[in-house]
Amino acid sequence: MKKIGWGILGAARVNERLMPAIVQSEQGELISIGSRRPGASKECVLKHLPRYEDKVSCFDGFDQVINHEKVDAIYIPLANEEHTEVALKAIRAKKHVLIEKPMAIKSVEVKTLIEEASKNNVKMMEGFMYAFHPQFDRIMNTIKSNILGDINYAHSMFSFPIQPARFYRINRSMENGGGALWDIGPYAIHTIRQCFKENPIRVKAIAKLNEYGADISTTGLIDFGNNKRATFDISFECTRRSEFEAFGPLGRVKCPTVWQPEDKQAKIILNTESSGLTEEVVPAANHFILEINHFNKIIKSDISPKLSKEDALWNVKTLEGIQESVQKDSWVML
Ligand SMILES: NC(=O)c1ccc[n+]([C@@H]2O[C@H](COP(=O)([O-])OP(=O)(O)OC[C@H]3O[C@@H](n4cnc5c(N)ncnc54)[C@H](OP(=O)(O)O)[C@@H]3O)[C@@H](O)[C@H]2O)c1
Repeated sequence: MKKIGWGILGAARVNERLMPAIVQSEQGELISIGSRRPGASKECVLKHLPRYEDKVSCFDGFDQVINHEKVDAIYIPLANEEHTEVALKAIRAKKHVLIEKPMAIKSVEVKTLIEEASKNNVKMMEGFMYAFHPQFDRIMNTIKSNILGDINYAHSMFSFPIQPARFYRINRSMENGGGALWDIGPYAIHTIRQCFKENPIRVKAIAKLNEYGADISTTGLIDFGNNKRATFDISFECTRRSEFEAFGPLGRVKCPTVWQPEDKQAKIILNTESSGLTEEVVPAANHFILEINHFNKIIKSDISPKLSKEDALWNVKTLEGIQESVQKDSWVML
């Protein structure tokens, strides 16, 4: 059976996980990788998949990858503000696209991507690998089971002290894609949004900005209406946190490591009025492989992705609103 041929645009750090995931996936093979930095794509293969040196075509640029006849699907791990231009090129070349989160930094751009993906009949999904960890379904099933009652409050925290080698993530303003909001904020906001059936109606946030206008920390409030609300805190100068908690009238569910490394166990702590405190350990799982398996399957079987395009749009709309709230120091209606 023909495998799905993958191309990667950019010699990003995450490739150390994505490249092995593609070659270990059930129906995928890695065909090509391109980087704008001369020699970087070859170096990436030699570093992360040395046995595939002769099998993967490496290019100094993106066009040869996009137009490679054996490439069916393209993974885009570029800087947040660079996604749209290359994704549009790939979509118009009839390639399926898996775009790292956030899909773009402007909702108008996500709308264009959605229209073009539909016009060109290709699959498109935002790359939230954490949604493919069994932990995610376990949390969502707990919430849907109504054991906690109707969720009326959720909270997420994502932080780590940024290392000097990564300062290029904070060397431009939020409006230009720099800072914590567009980098780790998508996880915190996406997880919160999954707890509520409603879309958010307004947001309010404060941030500490650096000299470039990039946010180092952002803290905010999301109002879903009818007293359903959420708070979040993301930071590049706080100790490592990767936590999420949802509350209803009948109980609460907490995940101390919701955006989980693939080699670590996850823990889900449930505390309900009826059963009291219980802890469940979810075994380690490689969500990168599970994500690639899923994308291969939706292409092969022509089915809808687990993460919808509308979900990606609402994620960016919410992040955009948070950015505007920081700038205006006021509530922003979505
Ligand atoms: N890192 C992880 O473990 C991880 C895990 C899960 C999700 N993600 C997500 O994946 C996306 C990419 O993250 P990342 O940490 O892998 O990004 P990254 O290493 O900063 O790479 C992003 C892009 O910047 C360029 N680049 C890389 N190193 C560079 C350098 N030294 N100088 C100049 N340009 C450089 C590359 O494009 P060119 O090759 O064309 O220059 C690359 O595609 C983000 O959305 C992130 O949240 C990352």
